[in-house]
Amino acid sequence: MIHTSSTMCTPTVTEVPRHIAIIMDGNGRWAESRRLPRVSGHVKGLETVKIITKSCTMRNIKFLTLFAFSPENWRRPIDEVSFLMRLFISALEREIAHLYTNNIRLRVVGDLSMFEPRIQDLVQNAEAKTASNTGLILTIAANYGGRWDILQATRKIAQQCVDDNSIQSVNESNFSQYLAMAYAPEPDLFIRTGGEQRVSNFLLWQLAYTEFYFTGVFWPEFNDMELGKAIASYCGRERRFGRTGEQLTRKSQNIDALLC
Ligand code: IPE
Ligand code: IPE
Ligand code: MG
Repeated sequence: MIHTSSTMCTPTVTEVPRHIAIIMDGNGRWAESRRLPRVSGHVKGLETVKIITKSCTMRNIKFLTLFAFSPENWRRPIDEVSFLMRLFISALEREIAHLYTNNIRLRVVGDLSMFEPRIQDLVQNAEAKTASNTGLILTIAANYGGRWDILQATRKIAQQCVDDNSIQSVNESNFSQYLAMAYAPEPDLFIRTGGEQRVSNFLLWQLAYTEFYFTGVFWPEFNDMELGKAIASYCGRERRFGRTGEQLTRKSQNIDALLC
């Protein structure tokens, strides 16, 4: 399915967000505030991943995208990085059966070539095993960077131009087909836990018209109630996509839809 671009065509706004993207931040500070090692925050954070995945299923969210590891996170102390890798392996090994039986489709986006072969194999198996599931599409962004994504899309387009011996017409609608998450609509709601108010190289292209929600709650303490607050905030927003507020109340918006 080809999803429309929010800049080329005014999107239809659904009552419940179709796609929620989350920067799961604050694991380390949660642990430090309890005088625990930072990594115990990551262990607890994995429990929150399970809780929020279930919440999104119950709330009929179609796409949930979680930022698990950025290319800049390789700059962390080696012990923390290797702990995160082991945690990723154990989550992939232990949770796939559960995702499968709950009709959840798992996808992993990012430059996986940087991971050890075992992780790459586990990801491939997990994606294949859940490929025919029709419920929530859970995407884990691992070694994913928004700039990496835009660059890899650009390289694919350039290669296609060489192969076709023609200059392909690239525009804001078809560019997204080359991005790692071409299968998903642009996020409706972006959540960042942990108090920071920045994008940290997450979905740079796709966040063009996403609604942002920041909370000081650390990821290990985020739960269904906090998710509910974020969704309630989203429901109170007026998504204008460049139009005036008055236009939204007029029936003429249907004409906009016809023009797409
Ligand atoms: C997010 O929590 C998890 C990853 C980046 C892997 P942090 O580890 O960044 O936690 P803080 O921001 O240091 O508290
Ligand atoms: C963003 O968190 C990346 C992930 C949650 C995976 P960071 O904790 O790495 O972000 P910065 O460094 O504070 O911007
Ligand atoms: Mg952080």
